Amino acid sequence: MTQHLAAPSTGTSDDAPGHRTGWWQDAVIYQVYPRSFADGNGDGMGDLAGVTARLPYLRDLGVDAVWLSPFYASPQADAGYDVADYRAIDPMFGTLLDADALIREAHGLGLRIIVDLVPNHSSDQHEWFKRALAEGPGSALRERYHFRPGKGTDGELPPNDWESIFGGPAWTRTVNPDGTPGDWYLHLFAPEQPDFNWEHPAVADEFRSILRFWLDMGVDGFRVDVAHGLVKAEGLPDLGAHDQLKLLGNDVMPFFDQDGVHEIYRSWRTILDEYPGERIAVAEAWTPTVERTANYVRPDEMHQAFNFQYLGTAWDAAELRKVIDISLDAMRPVGAPTTWVLSNHDVTRHATRFANPAGLGTQIRTPGDRELGLRRARAATLLMLALPGSAYVYQGEELGLPDVTDLPDEARQDPSFFRAEGQDGFRDGCRVPIPWNREGTSYGFGAGGSWLPQPAGWGELSVEAQTGVEGSTLELYRAAIAARREHPGLGAGADVEWLDGPEGVLVLGRPGFVCTVNTTGAPVRIAARGRVLLASAPVTVDGAEAVLPADTTVWWTV
Ligand code: GLC
Repeated sequence: MTQHLAAPSTGTSDDAPGHRTGWWQDAVIYQVYPRSFADGNGDGMGDLAGVTARLPYLRDLGVDAVWLSPFYASPQADAGYDVADYRAIDPMFGTLLDADALIREAHGLGLRIIVDLVPNHSSDQHEWFKRALAEGPGSALRERYHFRPGKGTDGELPPNDWESIFGGPAWTRTVNPDGTPGDWYLHLFAPEQPDFNWEHPAVADEFRSILRFWLDMGVDGFRVDVAHGLVKAEGLPDLGAHDQLKLLGNDVMPFFDQDGVHEIYRSWRTILDEYPGERIAVAEAWTPTVERTANYVRPDEMHQAFNFQYLGTAWDAAELRKVIDISLDAMRPVGAPTTWVLSNHDVTRHATRFANPAGLGTQIRTPGDRELGLRRARAATLLMLALPGSAYVYQGEELGLPDVTDLPDEARQDPSFFRAEGQDGFRDGCRVPIPWNREGTSYGFGAGGSWLPQPAGWGELSVEAQTGVEGSTLELYRAAIAARREHPGLGAGADVEWLDGPEGVLVLGRPGFVCTVNTTGAPVRIAARGRVLLASAPVTVDGAEAVLPADTTVWWTV
């Protein structure tokens, strides 16, 4: 195996035809959630062999790169975002050889591979943490995490008032090896996810080595999980606020978006730059403003950051225009491409968000008006793919999948659902294995079942059911992504030109194109803008005029 891995598949498609510098600037990046994409061995759980077998589908979809959510050795307390060994593959997903095969195969097809890196916390089953607990108070390994004595007369109160993102206190009390109650440790997420202490040089060294391990394996980049969380304010001060979760994303918190994180990313950038082929890092950074998000993508830090402000925007012309402008303006001074995303593994799929009234947030448990949601989702996607910068597509959105809102509680696995006592944490709804075939066991997901139940009728949304069908959501995505490839101007640059349009209609100019978006629930008559290149619903052109159906986007070539 060593020998096999010693000649990594580097350089991806550097020599492939059409390679351009800065491939990531306008890349369409497809998120694979390995548990739910394709099951190669029929055990009901997706795996790396399943992904490899389906890579030709992604090549045909036309995406530039694939980001895989974590597949590392993990007890799966948070679906793999609790990593026990950063250099090993969880047996449920395969082996290092499977990862190697996936990377090589992808590169052979001209696809780049981005892996998830989880540096804010490890699993409580990570060797360091297990030993830190077993060795008891005074263990040097405890300094690599945040262990603190409790408050109160007997240390029975947590060291500060921080709350876990998944609900409940962000601290758990340990039991000493002799059975007495001991110190507490910090976990911003589940108790099985202790936060690393990034002030400790061993932690920084370890992650630099992990980066190199995967770069040597040939990966093209990293999506950095909770990139905003690594550094905590000196002394871990109380927040002094109730309902802390409401503050998330509105304020700099003592545990989020501290300025010290940037030094870490500067050191990572020097490592990425040592490797050929423009290896990249993408920040998952929840910050109060897009301006603060831009700090993560300064020229000597990461390459991209997710634009969650865009993801959270309602289907409303004025709101969309505002967030697009703010996003482009924020990235301009740092020279990084703006990114756009509508769905991922942590939020209700956009076909269901847009099916519900605005203002419900991104964790929704009601199906809403499915037809309306799909119509708006298709229109929203065409708008997203017309914007300058890089766009993220979450597996299954190209099929127009809705969230599965009626999963039985006993099927749910999202730890935040349980920590929030069933009032929040509905992330399983977007994680249901995707349908490949009309019929058959798990609709072609695999030869066995499916780790989350798939709804009846899932097969009608399958790849098989939509392939070659004019007007299907899958063919719309294929056509849109192909058009972006054919007309690089669509994703290029950093500006959009806003043209006049009726109330509720966005008219934006891109080099050689105009994109018109009717966000209203009624047809709108507009001036025809040229030749229709693509439309999210049939558009009628009558001489110099056109009728945009309700909730429809049209791309025009001018
Ligand atoms: C990120 C991941 C999410 C995970 C959390 C803790 O937000 O996207 O799925 O639960 O980090 O690692």
